[in-house]
Amino acid sequence: MPNTSKKTLISGVKPTGRPHIGNYFGAMKQFVDLQDSGKYDCRIFIADYHGLNLIQDAEEMRRLTLDLALDYIAIGLDPKKTSIFKQSDVPAHTELCWIFDTIVTMPYLMRAHAFKDAEAKDKEINVGTFNYPVLMAADILLYDADVVPVGQDQKQHIEYARDIALKFDNIFRSETFKLPTDLIMESVAVVPGTDGRKMSKSYGNTIPLFATREEITKAVMSIVTDSSGDVPVNVYNIHRLFRPESELRPLYEANKGKYANLKKALVEDIDAFIKPMRERRAELADDPKKVMRILKKGAKAANKAAAKKLEAVKKAIGVI
Ligand code: ADP
Ligand code: TRP
Repeated sequence: MPNTSKKTLISGVKPTGRPHIGNYFGAMKQFVDLQDSGKYDCRIFIADYHGLNLIQDAEEMRRLTLDLALDYIAIGLDPKKTSIFKQSDVPAHTELCWIFDTIVTMPYLMRAHAFKDAEAKDKEINVGTFNYPVLMAADILLYDADVVPVGQDQKQHIEYARDIALKFDNIFRSETFKLPTDLIMESVAVVPGTDGRKMSKSYGNTIPLFATREEITKAVMSIVTDSSGDVPVNVYNIHRLFRPESELRPLYEANKGKYANLKKALVEDIDAFIKPMRERRAELADDPKKVMRILKKGAKAANKAAAKKLEAVKKAIGVI
């Protein structure tokens, strides 16, 4: 798989539950687009050890991990093009994290946004959450990643990875690490939810990505429409994601004020879009062993690359 003319791309996703179409258009789809661009050697992993800070129930962890793998394969991550693996299957991540822990200071980690946010909420923060950026630096630096596609909120974590790489090489007078750059995924737009606000799990205004036709119908029928205009703006703004505006304009023109017709058309379009992914996901879900094999294969490739880098690190620090 490694191809020297290509850049190395890595990203991790925490297993957090059922995605919605806002997550898809705003974030998930971009991994598939980057993979299909052919410009990168891609590694995408399930950040289960990062997730462990929140998910502390074995059954839930297993279910969410499998779900996430199914989601990504169903939307088009192709195990032949992208190595997909679980972070916990590659022990070098946590081993390198410990090594970094010995050179990263507490005040430096206290300046991290995520830590400050958690502290502002007055929570008792566990050590794993405090140390989150160090494990993430290890995730990235182990693979000599050139680019790390992430959302804006993760930008600081990539800067931390760079800082940690420089600090390590400075202390141990080595040239062990490559400096990664972030690839900020600017979502095309903020996908609106059924109430016109940003689609978000926390607002309960979502259309699930792998929704059944019934679920799609229910969500679309609940879209809040404003009776003052001809065009139901909230319906239109979601519809735009599924059909070019050049086709939508005549449709909305011909159905002025006929909201029920427009909602029906939207149900058809969303269902036509989701159906193949939903079917692929269901097929895969029937064969979880196949998914596990994909993850194991990804882990094998990741372990190989990670072991090589860890050996260089161990030499640099003098434990071998
Ligand atoms: P939620 O708000 O539903 O909890 P998350 O915060 O888990 O969603 O978001 C995961 C990813 O999906 C992030 O990269 C985020 O930028 C993207 N995302 C979430 N909601 C939207 C949306 N409505 N429009 C565009 N992108 C979104
Ligand atoms: N922190 C990332 C998030 O919350 C997930 C993540 C963990 C990650 N390790 C990573 C992303 C390494 C990119 C590279 O979304």
